[in-house]
Amino acid sequence: MSYFKTKPPQIAKSEGKLGVLIPGMGAVGTTFIAGVLSIRKNLSLPIGSLTQMGHIRLGKRTEERNPAIREFVPLASLDDLVFGGWDIYDRNCYEEAVTAGVLSARDLEPIRDELSAIRPMPAVFDQSYVKNLHGTNVKSAATKMGLAEQLIDDIEAFKKTHGLSRLVMVWCGSTEVYQPLADVHRDLGTFEVALRENDPRITPSMIYGYAALKTDTPYANGAPNLSVEIPALAQLAAERQLPICGKDFKTGQTLMKTIIAPGFKARMLGLSGWFSTNILGNRDGEVLDDPGSFKSKEETKLSVLDTILQPKSYPQLYGDFYHKVRINYYPPRGDNKEGWDNIDIFGWMGYPMQIKIDFLCRDSILAAPLVLDLVLFLDLARRAGMYGIQEWLSFYFKSPITLPKLYPEHDLFIQQAKLKQTLRYLMGEELITHLGLDYYDE
Ligand SMILES: NC(=O)c1ccc[n+]([C@@H]2O[C@H](COP(=O)([O-])OP(=O)(O)OC[C@H]3O[C@@H](n4cnc5c(N)ncnc54)[C@H](O)[C@@H]3O)[C@@H](O)[C@H]2O)c1
Repeated sequence: MSYFKTKPPQIAKSEGKLGVLIPGMGAVGTTFIAGVLSIRKNLSLPIGSLTQMGHIRLGKRTEERNPAIREFVPLASLDDLVFGGWDIYDRNCYEEAVTAGVLSARDLEPIRDELSAIRPMPAVFDQSYVKNLHGTNVKSAATKMGLAEQLIDDIEAFKKTHGLSRLVMVWCGSTEVYQPLADVHRDLGTFEVALRENDPRITPSMIYGYAALKTDTPYANGAPNLSVEIPALAQLAAERQLPICGKDFKTGQTLMKTIIAPGFKARMLGLSGWFSTNILGNRDGEVLDDPGSFKSKEETKLSVLDTILQPKSYPQLYGDFYHKVRINYYPPRGDNKEGWDNIDIFGWMGYPMQIKIDFLCRDSILAAPLVLDLVLFLDLARRAGMYGIQEWLSFYFKSPITLPKLYPEHDLFIQQAKLKQTLRYLMGEELITHLGLDYYDE
């Protein structure tokens, strides 16, 4: 795409309301919505959100310019967000937030009425893709194309009813069983025929992705299944000039991994093994207890170390490490996951050392601010005319989507630099190289 070779784009103003559509209004979806409602009332702080709390350095260090990101780039205001979505359970967002058990009654009570007013629309769902769930709030149609058309009607009605000027969709639904790329995904024409023929290789998350792009809605995928990461939907995104990104929110153990592993490599410390195991008891844990859904997750969790450590370039340090990831469903723990890591490293002359991490985290608390940032940045990208895969949003994902010829960047700090450089580029600011020699020449 040529936009990086030309002048910074004109960014259309953020006028009117922005609709946020969430397929899968479970723990993450409702924690995100509840958080935004609470922040709007000044009852909470948007902790964890770069768009709301981050600053960005501009120009030379001596200029001391460090504006808040939300003042630097023209993002939609939180007051302009309107929420909607789909779920297989017919529970309003207040009821679902209580069931999810992430937020306390003290935090939910002041926003109870607004949350209760958001009721999920019937979902496109098929149990063969998520084995451990049984829901009744589900659409039916003779073909998958018929289901896509119903979603398109839902989206258009949502836009009209709320008088929205723009939309964004973020998949927060359960992880689907592993579905590798297949020939039916290769181009839009083939994909549309397959939708009409009910091809089993087209999963519900792909149908949502298709409906989003057909209605000019940018799309982010928070789960590890393919969804829009198929050539057919990349083609549709390019044709309609819409931004897409994914996949799998980077929270918890993988966030830690992509913070720590770049440090080992920066200091040339070797790695002989990394064993990661989790216990969690929320519905996500129950879904991931199914081997098919776990396989989708395992793929995204395992790939990070290889790309960060580059074993081919550093065979003595990283040529032979053992990497294992486990997720154990343990109901008493609810959403409060515990992630253990045992890391075997080695240093000078090969002497071994160990690091143990015990992260008592809260999954949805870590994921909710990512959903907010993705909504605001995707909407910004759309208004700036950026379309196709948004690699600058890799910062938010365990397994960032890239062009097939590129490997994904997993190092959190490279991802952060990429994101901030993109914002500087968009606003016509000088890109920062961190060279710094110029200060000493003066
Ligand atoms: N919480 C995290 O830190 C985190 C990190 C990375 C990825 N994720 C992914 O985000 C997703 C959501 O996580 P969660 O903890 O909210 O799970 P959850 O089980 O609480 O919520 C998922 C919701 O999706 C619904 N759903 C399933 N299939 C659907 C469909 N086809 N259409 C509409 N709704 C559907 C389920 O009924 C459920 O309410 C999961 O795929 C999870 O793997 C979460």
